[in-house]
Amino acid sequence: MRCTRKYALYTGTERKTERKFCTYLLGGQIMKEFIEAAEQHLLHVYNRYPVVLDHGEGMYLYDTNDKKYLDFAAGIGTNALGYGNKEFITAMKEQMDRLLHVSNYFYTKPNISAVKLLAEATGMEKVFISNSGAEAVEGAIKLARKYARKKGFSDKTELIAMNKGFHGRSMGAVSVTGTESYRKPFEPLIGNVHFADFNDISSVKELVSSGTCAIIVETVQGEGGIHAAGEEFLLGIRDLCDKNDILMISDEVQCGMGRTGSYFAYEKYGIQPDVVTMAKGIGNGIAVGAFAVNKKAMNGLEAGDHGSTFGGNPFASAAITKVFEIFKKQDIISHVKEMGDYLTKALDGLSEKKKVIMERRGLGLMQGIECSEPVGPYLLKALEEGLILIGAGKNVIRFLPPLIAEKEHVDEMIGILDNILS
Ligand SMILES: Cc1ncc(COP(=O)(O)O)c(C=O)c1O
Repeated sequence: MRCTRKYALYTGTERKTERKFCTYLLGGQIMKEFIEAAEQHLLHVYNRYPVVLDHGEGMYLYDTNDKKYLDFAAGIGTNALGYGNKEFITAMKEQMDRLLHVSNYFYTKPNISAVKLLAEATGMEKVFISNSGAEAVEGAIKLARKYARKKGFSDKTELIAMNKGFHGRSMGAVSVTGTESYRKPFEPLIGNVHFADFNDISSVKELVSSGTCAIIVETVQGEGGIHAAGEEFLLGIRDLCDKNDILMISDEVQCGMGRTGSYFAYEKYGIQPDVVTMAKGIGNGIAVGAFAVNKKAMNGLEAGDHGSTFGGNPFASAAITKVFEIFKKQDIISHVKEMGDYLTKALDGLSEKKKVIMERRGLGLMQGIECSEPVGPYLLKALEEGLILIGAGKNVIRFLPPLIAEKEHVDEMIGILDNILS
């Protein structure tokens, strides 16, 4: 085939149109080669899209063929500021020049600033910085068990978690994850975990006993299909925790850091949990997580009880600090409120038009549409059309754009989706 004549192509002797055609095919071939090379050594625990991404700018990603994609997934709700934010990148480069890592045996300025910002934003007293959401959940579980033990209740070890809840893939986090297929192959897990139904407070009440040390709940379930907690449910959990000296752990890894139009989604309900877990958006793509804890529970963990080599190192901490600075400077929270309303209306409009959409759910820029059939083929079609979307379970399309999305991006996304769902 003409396009295999790389020499002619490189020397520019092909005619212009031929060259364009060849570049595309050659690019496709290169992408295929990349994917084959990747699958030789990548442990296959993800079914990846057949695309090799190369760079990004604002709301858009580009593959190795230079094909442009509008991104409504944001690295699973992580790239809060989109791609190529100059201020963020400059801060990261400066921190790289200054200091990357020292260990938690020392204090560093970026770390001091990051924990202050996280404590203020969550309304909590103390913060531990980890490297991921799952690690934040691990820390929160350890804290809950140790808190009860320190109070003299050594058999108060039970955890209540929610069906369809998701908290990560490490052993502790998967133990409280409400999807059986994620847990079953790895049993025995940490044990003493009971599952209630999300948004059914009586099912939680039934499980509370003198042995319960914590209730862990996402304010908005992400992986489970975008379900926001009802007010009665979340307030009911707070009340149960208060009455029975149980710690309420809010997992805000996906719904936190501005995604629903407030720094943390539980703020909307007028409650304060005892422990908050977070990750994703707080680092804007740098691998970080954290859990924050209130005055009541903060002494649960003591020196020697918990730790992490990398957790909260100067580089990760500088990322958190800069994300907060940019959030404040650009008033990202107000922007998400406005854009969340716009996205909600746009998706509601689409739902009215398309029979395949059963329901729209979500808050702010964390939305989902439940379809009457599996959405996998729609996600692939969207990719072909230059739109990155991800699912949440079999029948739900999830929308987690970077928080800098503008109306024009929502309109572009809706336009593509409109065609695809026809
Ligand atoms: C609510 C929630 N908790 C915990 C996690 C685990 O976070 P990570 O993948 O950073 O370990 C996730 C990941 O999607 C999540 O959505």
